[in-house]
Amino acid sequence: MRTIAFAVALALAAGLPAAAFAQDEGPSTAEVDAVIEAAFPGLDEEWAARLAPDETMEQCNASANVPSDAVFEEIRARAAGTIVYPDDGVLVGSWENGEKLAQSGYGMRFSDYPPRRENGGNCYACHQLTPQEVSYGTLGPSLMGYGKLRDYSEEAVKAAYEKVYNPHMAFPCSMMPRFGTNGVLTIDQIKDIVALLMDPASPVNR
Ligand code: HEC
Repeated sequence: MRTIAFAVALALAAGLPAAAFAQDEGPSTAEVDAVIEAAFPGLDEEWAARLAPDETMEQCNASANVPSDAVFEEIRARAAGTIVYPDDGVLVGSWENGEKLAQSGYGMRFSDYPPRRENGGNCYACHQLTPQEVSYGTLGPSLMGYGKLRDYSEEAVKAAYEKVYNPHMAFPCSMMPRFGTNGVLTIDQIKDIVALLMDPASPVNR
């Protein structure tokens, strides 16, 4: 913002029309769609389907991720309806494997076909988790001490499972991937991720 004001001030000083610096409206949705389609020529069906927004994405796109209260509730309910819980009700697996999954960005990229190993969760791309890992993204909040801060409560364990399975239940229009709903991670893998967050022995909580 300040840079733009500075540029406009400079332009005025130089006798240039300030309108030359006004921000334009940006491309239309149709123009953006055309560029995206042109960027992926000759896609097979599975990939083409991934470019098409589903109902939740449509609603988030239409409101620039700030839906009305009614749509917010619709997205929440739809997300809740997709969550599958383990048959035995046990939501916590192995944090050691959870840490491996959090580190791994493998899966569903062009170069990952045919799959040669299991998909990862790539959690560190967006979150700080353990003090031992110094390289992490900051798009999402820090998750250090996540379980400890929530007293390892049963409700918090369930909420963590649901947030990883489909974050739109808690945060409609979240930028976090829907790991369970979109088949990125299996139920067992999500249990391991929950252990990373919620097990008192996990480095996240130590
Ligand atoms: C593309 C970025 C991205 C990735 C990858 C990602 N997250 Fe998130 N996550 C977010 C954002 C952003 C939020 C904040 C909620 C929101 O506004 O969507 C969030 C929120 C969360 C929360 C809720 C925090 C709270 O307030 O209770 C948990 C738990 C979480 N993420 C765990 C994970 C785990 C575990 C992984 C890996 C399996 C992961 N995330 C991968 C972006 C990401």
